[in-house]
Amino acid sequence: MCGIVGYIGNNDCKEILLKGLEKLEYRGYDSAGIAVVNNYDVEIFKEQGRIRDLRNIVDWNLATTTGIGHTRWATHGKPSKRNSHPHQSATGRFTIVHNGVIENYEQLKKQYLAHVHFVSDTDTEVIVQLVEHFVNEGNDTFKAFQETLKLLHGSYAIALIDNENQDTIFVAKNKSPLLIGLGDNFNGVASDAMAMLHVTKRYLELKDQEMVIVTKSQVQIFTLNGEKIIRKPFIAELDVSDMEKGTYSHYMLKEIEEQPYVVRKIIQKYQNDTGTIHIDPSIIGELMNSDRIYIVACGTSYHAGIVGKYLMEKVAGIPVEVHLASEFAYNRPLLSKKPMFIFISQSGETADSRTVLVQMKELGYPALTITNVPGSTLSREADYTLLLHAGPEIAVASTKAYTAQIAVLAIIAEAVALGLGRELNIRMIHELAIVANAMEEISNRKIEFEQVAIDYLSSDRSSFFIGRGLDYAVCLEAALKLKEISYIHSEGFAGGELKHGSIALIEEGTPVFALATQENVNLSIRGNVKEVAARGAKPCIISMESLAMEEDEIVLPQVHKLLTPLISVIPMQYIAYYAALHRGCDVDKPRNLAKSVTVE
Ligand code: G6P
Repeated sequence: MCGIVGYIGNNDCKEILLKGLEKLEYRGYDSAGIAVVNNYDVEIFKEQGRIRDLRNIVDWNLATTTGIGHTRWATHGKPSKRNSHPHQSATGRFTIVHNGVIENYEQLKKQYLAHVHFVSDTDTEVIVQLVEHFVNEGNDTFKAFQETLKLLHGSYAIALIDNENQDTIFVAKNKSPLLIGLGDNFNGVASDAMAMLHVTKRYLELKDQEMVIVTKSQVQIFTLNGEKIIRKPFIAELDVSDMEKGTYSHYMLKEIEEQPYVVRKIIQKYQNDTGTIHIDPSIIGELMNSDRIYIVACGTSYHAGIVGKYLMEKVAGIPVEVHLASEFAYNRPLLSKKPMFIFISQSGETADSRTVLVQMKELGYPALTITNVPGSTLSREADYTLLLHAGPEIAVASTKAYTAQIAVLAIIAEAVALGLGRELNIRMIHELAIVANAMEEISNRKIEFEQVAIDYLSSDRSSFFIGRGLDYAVCLEAALKLKEISYIHSEGFAGGELKHGSIALIEEGTPVFALATQENVNLSIRGNVKEVAARGAKPCIISMESLAMEEDEIVLPQVHKLLTPLISVIPMQYIAYYAALHRGCDVDKPRNLAKSVTVE
């Protein structure tokens, strides 16, 4: 989703801004632009398409040490050069980049800006025109910015340049993520630490409804009422090399293949010297004391939550409900007497999940965030955080975060079970070590999965993924992976449910992937395969060593029956990857998608 970067200092900033925007590309975008200060003027370069297109139109001879940049993921107004940021006020004095959605922009336009000619369809332009409006009323820029922010309903991360006050970037944040990057003789602004890691590791966190004056030597944070806030910086624990593709052709492929290492890292991070599980006892205490756990998430994280429900209920014996954040926020289910909330989010920034977290904190319920990004909004605002330790996930399609989420949920389930004194016949640390080896073995067979993608997914047919129990949960994720990056229509179904309507879609040659890793439903799912095959489908069965039959296409190494999602998803990720690759799709940056969805 949209990304912001800004720089004010002594060095030429064009490359710093463009490099920063490139680091934000992974969030998903359709246009990009920069505005740079040059001799009492502000020059804007913007383009629909990729940063490489923007690079081609930038005037590289222009000397400039202050600027702001933006990647736009269209919400208000189509992707176009006209709608891309930065935007300017009518006289050109103020220039802005903005992430988020201003819900009352039409009303503000009518009320304050009826006489102003707008050049874009964006809500953002209203902000910059309002600043000019309040300056025209006799206010200085700080006051005009403050007055504008007070009127805005919705989410925003903003960086603003005043052509008549070029030694300052005016910044504000509400709901959308934004950090201040601190340097020696320079300062910066970034939606995400990754965008500035090439210049600094030192950052200042911003909270909602704060505004900031950033010069090259000073950063001053204020509330919207003008009260000054003192905050200590933090060091971003990210390694620039973790964000490089290395010898891999795509981030997605790299991230699929990192999964065994991620599982081993999780084992290492969540065990103590004696080889037993180590998690903050207050988290386990809260979970043990709750009468029901509510897992809230979106997309792939929601799918990991469904697996988490199985694990938590089977291992720890606590009832769990899994909810889509966007539904829960506006249609809250009846809650139990002592609920505990688990928010699962790779990015820790997903607006829908955050909305629910804010609501639940207002009600006083305890919340744990499981995330890959330390210091992210969901992490900061929950009572507790458990990290995924998966390293930056850059490809839009989530892979290693999914398996990391399941691994962490499995460890939590055991810790809670032990806390409750339950008899256990699974030791997660030991079983996860077996999983990591199995993952490696599967990665060595990727040519096999590429062939499956060629054999089954070369045409434009719809495809189906069927499974029961834990396999059904993985089918939802497998179908999502395939549709996200290859644009082949695909759906995940509970094996028993397909015949209640959707079987009407099966025709000669329809690819149906069936997962058979669970002994208790092995025969039933194979029965479902027969049903679709009898109607012309082309089935591809993926099974576990102990359940393998002659007709199976892919046989996976044996792991504990509760942890099969960790390995059965991997061939599915590869199949999606190769299907997309052979169709010539942009694997890492699929159309229309954003990695970090910071608007509701
Ligand atoms: C976006 C991404 C998905 C992701 C979902 C939730 O839609 O494209 O890959 O699963 O957001 O993101 P989160 O960061 O909260 O896990």
